[in-house]
Amino acid sequence: MKILVVGKGGREHALIRALAESPSRPELFCFPGSDAIAEWAKPVAAADLPSLIAWMKMHEIDLCVAGEESYLVRDEGLANLCEMNGIPCWGPKKESAQLEASKEFAKQFLARHRIPTAQAASTETLEQALAAIGGIYPTVLKFDGLAAGKGVAVCMDEAAAMEFLDEVFTQRRFGSGKVLVEKFLTGPEVSIFAAVVDEKYLIFTPARDYKRIGDGDMGPNTGGMGAVASRQLIAPEMLETIEREIIMPTIRGLQEDGLPYRGFLYFGLMLTPSGPQVIEYNCRFGDPECQAVMPLVSGNFAEFCLEGARGNLRPDLLDFSSGWSVCVILASAGYPDSSRNGDVISGIETVQDARIYHSGTRRNADGFWETHGGRVLAVVCHGDERAAVVSMAHRAADRITFSGLQRRRDIGILHFDEPNVS
Ligand code: AMP
Ligand code: GLY
Repeated sequence: MKILVVGKGGREHALIRALAESPSRPELFCFPGSDAIAEWAKPVAAADLPSLIAWMKMHEIDLCVAGEESYLVRDEGLANLCEMNGIPCWGPKKESAQLEASKEFAKQFLARHRIPTAQAASTETLEQALAAIGGIYPTVLKFDGLAAGKGVAVCMDEAAAMEFLDEVFTQRRFGSGKVLVEKFLTGPEVSIFAAVVDEKYLIFTPARDYKRIGDGDMGPNTGGMGAVASRQLIAPEMLETIEREIIMPTIRGLQEDGLPYRGFLYFGLMLTPSGPQVIEYNCRFGDPECQAVMPLVSGNFAEFCLEGARGNLRPDLLDFSSGWSVCVILASAGYPDSSRNGDVISGIETVQDARIYHSGTRRNADGFWETHGGRVLAVVCHGDERAAVVSMAHRAADRITFSGLQRRRDIGILHFDEPNVS
């Protein structure tokens, strides 16, 4: 079995490790990949998506796994191009991936199918946005397009709103696009991942992402500074409610709207006092949630993805461990505003009792790992007791150092004393 994974970050490193450890022992390729991923999957050099597809066809790739979202909506869409060329793809078609690529599309989908979500207004200018806010703070502003997890601002006052609106509408930091003004919700957040195959789905282990840069959820939003995954993260009754009010109507909605879906679908939820609500959909696994979840998954993940891409959902191929998994992210100097490359990393080889996934590293001319991106490494441990796993993960992370390293110390600790959780 030959599998090509699209992406280059920690999520893809985790997916590739899980594929490599599958009993099918697939031959693995990655595009564009990274130096760390190259230890598990051969990197493929392709100038663009059409030439990647041509390469996959020529090399008789059995399965393409979409890790990163941007390829799903580029050109004709990764999954669409795969289908045209007879290559099974684990990842949705371009039209369905609008659920992630356009927040406005997602809001309309949610409203059409009566799925609980925060009220929102779509605005095209700074003036319209201010009018929609109507002086009510906190408010949530969302850029209507892909922005690598940085297109959302929770604004406590008008000064913060003006700063974000200036970035979007004047500086065009994310390119052209609208802004959604959304009602501010409160409650613990949870990320639910479903493997979706047409009208069927399988829920993976729920996870929680820590999105802010600093301890205590302070500072700006990032792509994610750590994650915790466990079945125990959500009470069984809450999971039933989520399934009934959110997951099932979403799967039905995709069918009704003629939106084909085979791949991971990520539900970003907030457990508000009036029930769970959808914050966002993503059309792929989360990063860093994937790094936390995958060590809990055993069975034949490669076969599961291949069968899914062919239209067969096969829960019998997977098992999920019952314990806890904790992922601590090490980020580079300047993140999330910028990131510093070239800081030499030490200590990776001294970590024995944790999995290390590389998010943004490369090998320098002397053969040492150095920083190469905002999020650099994910350190992941799993076991039965949350507290023990938390200390194990933080102790393992302590062994790794580089200049400018940023990391949170409360991953797996903060948010475990709230209602509806654990
Ligand atoms: P998103 O990229 O849409 O997941 O948003 C990033 C983060 O912003 C979320 O994880 C929440 O912490 C926060 N957020 C998004 N929407 C809302 C909302 N309506 N109310 C409160 N916080 C929100
Ligand atoms: N961890 C959030 C995301 O993958 O978008």
